[in-house]
Amino acid sequence: MAPNAAVELKKITKRFPGIVANDSIDFKLEKGSVHALLGENGAGKSTLMNILFGLYQPDEGSIEIDGKEVAINGPNEAIGYGIGMVHQHFKLVSPFTVAENIILGMEPKRGGRIDTRSAVRKVQALSEQYGLHVDPQAKIAEISVGMQQRVEILKTLYRGANILIFDEPTAVLTPQEISELLDIMKRLVAEGKSIILITHKLKEIMQIADTVTVIRRGKAIDTCPVSGTNPDELAEKMVGRSVNFSVEKQPAKPGPVVLKVDKLVSRNKDGVQALNEISFEIRAGEIVGIAGVDGNGQTELIEAISGLRKADSGSIRLNGQELTSLTPRQISEAGLSHIPEDRHKHGLVLDFTMSENMVLQTYFHPEFQKRGLLNYKAIDRKAETLIAEFDVRTPDIHTPARALSGGNQQKAIIAREIDKNPDLLIAAQPIRGLDIGAIEFVHKQLIAHRDRGKAVLLVSFELDEILNVADRIAVIYEGRIIGEVYPHETNHQELGLMMAGSDKRSKSR
Ligand SMILES: Nc1ncnc2c1ncn2[C@@H]1O[C@H](COP(=O)(O)OP(=O)(O)OP(=O)(O)O)[C@@H](O)[C@H]1O
Ligand SMILES: [Mg+2]
Repeated sequence: MAPNAAVELKKITKRFPGIVANDSIDFKLEKGSVHALLGENGAGKSTLMNILFGLYQPDEGSIEIDGKEVAINGPNEAIGYGIGMVHQHFKLVSPFTVAENIILGMEPKRGGRIDTRSAVRKVQALSEQYGLHVDPQAKIAEISVGMQQRVEILKTLYRGANILIFDEPTAVLTPQEISELLDIMKRLVAEGKSIILITHKLKEIMQIADTVTVIRRGKAIDTCPVSGTNPDELAEKMVGRSVNFSVEKQPAKPGPVVLKVDKLVSRNKDGVQALNEISFEIRAGEIVGIAGVDGNGQTELIEAISGLRKADSGSIRLNGQELTSLTPRQISEAGLSHIPEDRHKHGLVLDFTMSENMVLQTYFHPEFQKRGLLNYKAIDRKAETLIAEFDVRTPDIHTPARALSGGNQQKAIIAREIDKNPDLLIAAQPIRGLDIGAIEFVHKQLIAHRDRGKAVLLVSFELDEILNVADRIAVIYEGRIIGEVYPHETNHQELGLMMAGSDKRSKSR
């Protein structure tokens, strides 16, 4: 009888200093199926998959592929066994083309020279077979995040992967890109591939997975067919308590204007107007949500307010103070905090300890230094408090940020930014990569910040989040606000239309 398991992990244990990341985990991936891995931030999901991909060696346990025990000593060996991994942080070379990236390291040669033509043909054929619609000649720098992810998928297929591991693939995607990715996964399975999917989004599990394994604090606590479960039950299994999916809050009591953006214009390198005389304001005690399709100026708006991008004209005032000529540090000191979209680029210094990361923008305050000497005791005390308050799971405060799980890195940034008690808090995609328990907690924190009389700017692709958390919604389209609505007076459909440029409901401007 042919074995029906593509992969079987048996009693896998992996210890890191101070923690058992995987505690005797059994996991079996059936051929031609999608198997979801669900668990809290820091539960041990990425660790388990990194073991399967040869990035870590297990301390105990074994791996079987097609019924045969194997040792996987590195990614190249994993690829040799037909395993491919699509990481959350892509590893592509931007100035290169799609085809060049895909063949990198295994270029087809003809008479000693790289045979680009045949590479492009092969990439094209794979792209068509799996419905990926990728242009092999496009430059990585010029394609969207969703397309880059497809290039990563093609890369694994080009190397002959039969088993594909996706670690939170939808966290960085827009809703449209997510539904396209799920279709691609269906196609992959139909062509005989087997998929392991790590995701925090229960909806996606219900939609695409055949089986789900729940991991809690390093232990696999349940495996069941998706058809026999539901989102509430999964949530409870995962966090060990029932989770409230709706956000409870009192109506906002808006006070004086905190942020006033007026006719702000900013051009990109190539002269394209990213912000097109954008105007809006946020008052004390309210959360304004910016809804929009990716690429309509959200990123540029946040960069302009936080001082990372030059304004060509117009003004940005925080409590009446003009920000456009200030440096990011001056703006931070003027009362702005920023939970950035890209936590690795702007949020953390990965090689610094958690303690150091907690004072990145405040280490020069009298609280933390005297005459240029850092007061490490005070810094450590601050870090201890924040980590406890926000339930950041780390062995201790002197662990480098790099060793934390993705979601715990995110929670640490949120803790630091809210703790500064800013007059204006910018939260850009704040729940990316967070588990549902952490999402509930972070939303409560945003609302608590508002209730302290502060202003919050929430930018998110998740309409549910905007509708649940924001007090007022501003829709951004082609670099300007084309309409403002209240969450209780609108719905997905109307917001969707406005986001596509229809401004019939425009109340202002
Ligand atoms: N290289 C490492 N060194 C030390 N500890 C690590 C390392 N990698 C992971 N850990 C620890 O192992 C535990 C499990 O982390 P892992 O990244 O597997 O979690 P996860 O389930 O993927 O969480 P998330 O949903 O936040 O991505 C965490 O406590 C983490 O801090
Ligand atoms: Mg992870």
